[in-house]
Amino acid sequence: MLHSAVLNVMIKAAHRAGRSLKRDLGEVEHLQVSLKGPRNFVTAADRRAEEIVRTELAKARPDYGFLGEEGGAHEGADKTHRFIIDPLDGTTNFLHGIAHFAVSIALERAGLIVAGVVYNPANDELFVAERGKGAFLNDRRLRVAARTRLADAIVACGMPHYGRGGDLALARAEIAVAQREFAGLRRYGAATLDLAWVAAGRLDAYWERDLSPWDLAAGSLLVREAGGFVSDCDGGDDIFNEAQIVAGNETMHRELLRLLKEAGKQAVRS
Ligand code: IPD
Ligand code: CA
Ligand code: CA
Repeated sequence: MLHSAVLNVMIKAAHRAGRSLKRDLGEVEHLQVSLKGPRNFVTAADRRAEEIVRTELAKARPDYGFLGEEGGAHEGADKTHRFIIDPLDGTTNFLHGIAHFAVSIALERAGLIVAGVVYNPANDELFVAERGKGAFLNDRRLRVAARTRLADAIVACGMPHYGRGGDLALARAEIAVAQREFAGLRRYGAATLDLAWVAAGRLDAYWERDLSPWDLAAGSLLVREAGGFVSDCDGGDDIFNEAQIVAGNETMHRELLRLLKEAGKQAVRS
């Protein structure tokens, strides 16, 4: 499979940052037992990873803009290109020594996501996609799962968590409806990997609200390029402004939208 030059740059950046995070995970495991805990160390690891990504990308594409979770937005001389980065997605997992986290890098061109990389350094899984060229896991072409029976489906979600606000009543109604219909519900804690796993056919569908552009950018392209469907929780196209996502194959996506609508009505009544 032939990658474009810029995708190779993104892969290199993700690998470098991933190596640094993997080293730091070892230290985090030690710090679990210390009184101080690993929180400050993890904040530094997160920033370090973004710095590595930025440096690597800027070396090859100095004019491109940059939106990173840690460093914020920087306009480039080239106004049509921007990298969107989550240097460490799954911070809470990482903080607890759980090896389910990723570096996510997307390239936006004139408002469209055209390339994406999601890399889990713990198991060396590299998910990549380019618009119109398909999605791949370590060079193997990806397709979303073909399952169409809800009772066979494994579905992941996000849920409001400590200190972050969110509509708890709605989340509970959605989870209850999903538990009723699907074979299994999962909450893995790394949005970019949830999307990559939908692209890989491991998960049949995924939904989450209150996400940021860096959670959505690379992963949504992976799903689309693997033949999946992506929308906001009402079926609209603007996942970035709505800050939410529903992803799956055509049937699962449609059915999940229907269930979320049902849950929305229940939450209003209760
Ligand atoms: C978080 C993870 C998590 C999702 C949160 C995100 P972070 O990103 O993707 O799964 O539920 O909403 O903010 O903070 O670990 O980069
Ligand atoms: Ca994130
Ligand atoms: Ca993050």
